[in-house]
Amino acid sequence: MKSYSIKNLEQYFKQYKKSVQNPEKFWNKIAEENFVWYQKWNKVLAYDMTEASIKWFLNAKLNITKNCIDRHLSKRGNKTAIIFEPNNPNEPAQHITYLDLYERVCKLSNVLKEQGIRKGDRVCIYLPMIPELAISVLACARIGAIHSVVFAGFSASALTTRINDSDCKMVITSDGGFRGDKTIDLKTIVNNALDKCPCVEKVLVVKRTNTTVEMKPGRDFWLAPLMENALADHVAEIMDAEDPLFILYTSGSTGKPKGMMHTTGGYMVYTAYTFKNIFQYEENDVFWCTADIGWITGHSYIVYGPLLNGATTLMFEGIPSYPDFGRFWEVVEKHKVNQFYTAPTAIRALAKENVSYVEKHDLSSLKLLGTVGEPINEEAWHWYNDHIGKKNCPIVDTWWQTETGGILISPIPFVTPTKPTYATLPLPGIQPVLMDERRNEVEGNLSSGSLCIKFPWPSIARTIWGDHQRYKETYFKAFPGKYFTGDGALRDEVGYYRITGRVDDVIIVSGHNLGTAPIEDAINEHPAVAESAIVGFSHDVKGNALYGFVILKEEGESRVRENLSKEINQLISDHIGPIAKLDKIQFVSGLPKTRSGKIMRRILRKIAEGDFSNFGDISTLLNPEVVEEIKNGRIS
Ligand code: WTA
Repeated sequence: MKSYSIKNLEQYFKQYKKSVQNPEKFWNKIAEENFVWYQKWNKVLAYDMTEASIKWFLNAKLNITKNCIDRHLSKRGNKTAIIFEPNNPNEPAQHITYLDLYERVCKLSNVLKEQGIRKGDRVCIYLPMIPELAISVLACARIGAIHSVVFAGFSASALTTRINDSDCKMVITSDGGFRGDKTIDLKTIVNNALDKCPCVEKVLVVKRTNTTVEMKPGRDFWLAPLMENALADHVAEIMDAEDPLFILYTSGSTGKPKGMMHTTGGYMVYTAYTFKNIFQYEENDVFWCTADIGWITGHSYIVYGPLLNGATTLMFEGIPSYPDFGRFWEVVEKHKVNQFYTAPTAIRALAKENVSYVEKHDLSSLKLLGTVGEPINEEAWHWYNDHIGKKNCPIVDTWWQTETGGILISPIPFVTPTKPTYATLPLPGIQPVLMDERRNEVEGNLSSGSLCIKFPWPSIARTIWGDHQRYKETYFKAFPGKYFTGDGALRDEVGYYRITGRVDDVIIVSGHNLGTAPIEDAINEHPAVAESAIVGFSHDVKGNALYGFVILKEEGESRVRENLSKEINQLISDHIGPIAKLDKIQFVSGLPKTRSGKIMRRILRKIAEGDFSNFGDISTLLNPEVVEEIKNGRIS
């Protein structure tokens, strides 16, 4: 990044002011000075926040992989682009240089084309955290195919829904994946999913676990022999700045996941800019983001942001507890990690273990720490600061969403004074506002409300794949003319933001967004279930856990109910994945409902938390008597 790297608070305020006074000029300069374009834009921005229509760098032409890889080759050809740390610590790590990466991405690009994939086609990627995952993402981008990465923890049925929603022509998967001491049979999951996916013509399979798998002739191909025969050179496709780059699904308030669609030019500019400033990356640093590439954090800050900056980015295949709870710290020591970016749920889980797991390792390479995905509680923040950062590394609490493409609110390390649990200040270009219940903007500091952003930024999602109306209604209708985040926030006396949590039907469990509707839909498929409602309750490791209230068609005996609980969780696992399982299930005779038939989740949330004070006025309920029953039967 030539221009606009922020080194002190004065620079931050200056840039921020410029970015608000003249956003087009601000982004124009960044885009112009830091990337290679085949053709420049003739307009920086065109938008209509009522119609949810946003376009950046109009008519510009580029290929994001030329910016991620090709342009680094002359200076950084032998620099490590990706460090791959396998699940098994005894398996050697791999160092993939920019030149290796170029060749592998080119080969796969050629393979994809030979297999019939063209610009605009959708390719579903269902892989564990192995180098081929990053390479597949980049090869799709290089030929202009739209990647849709599905987190490899999702079930066959969730995979089917996502493949069909965007009509994917191809799936890239592996025989299996290693996760701690387990092996997951990914190919079997894909085979099951594909029974109901007529759109898929080809499946490419990476060999990782050497598990015996069923290959369907004519449809399924091992990747390695195809790669061997492919050319290691490929002329990147010329893409328009507003051509789709990828689709990434996120949960919503209906059973159908939302395929958030991101485009090429704006996403590139914003992820590169934020990576540089938020992680203060310097040429020989090693950056490690522990997310999975199946989530937006992995897209923006394992693959695109770091590679756009010519960085060394670490990909870890395993989990924090394998072979023991010191694994993260062992990896930091082994690869001399300088920037470490993880989720509060991982910090809370590791903070519960003996601190000797940390102290065994030399963490002196660390310069800064980051968190993402959910609010970080004060205790976890201090543990992270004291034991990992040794009180010597700023913590960047970065707030953003799948929909925002990149980080919107975060301290700039070494520049913005941090404050535990606060994401602090908006980045240049980001104009947050807090809204009250009457849809008015809350003025001044020391206030709270629903968090909206009132001006477009380059990496905002452009639509929900195939359903622009839903995009408009979900994000631009509640507060007309503004993007509504679904989060609540407060602002302190100096204008720092603290994100307090979701104000909609999404619950964040261990950093994963889970919509209540898809889980309820899964439960309601059980033949014995009449109706159900899910709420979240506080959990000291997961942040939130799920509490289900279930009405049975016929009241069963306790033994039957115990089995039912297991069956319900199995159903959820089959429909969504094990991450969405319920911690507590209470069978009830009714759910508190308003006269218009809406479940009063507010009351259920309080009961799940064990907070029986002040339910508010329940006399307006259709069935107020049920509240007492539910209260008495609460599972503690
Ligand atoms: C929550 C993840 C508090 C928030 C990048 C948001 C956070 C949702 C933070 C998006 C943070 C993310 N502090 N809450 N630093 N970061 N969130 O789409 O509720 O998986 O709306 O994107 O996570 O989750 P998503």
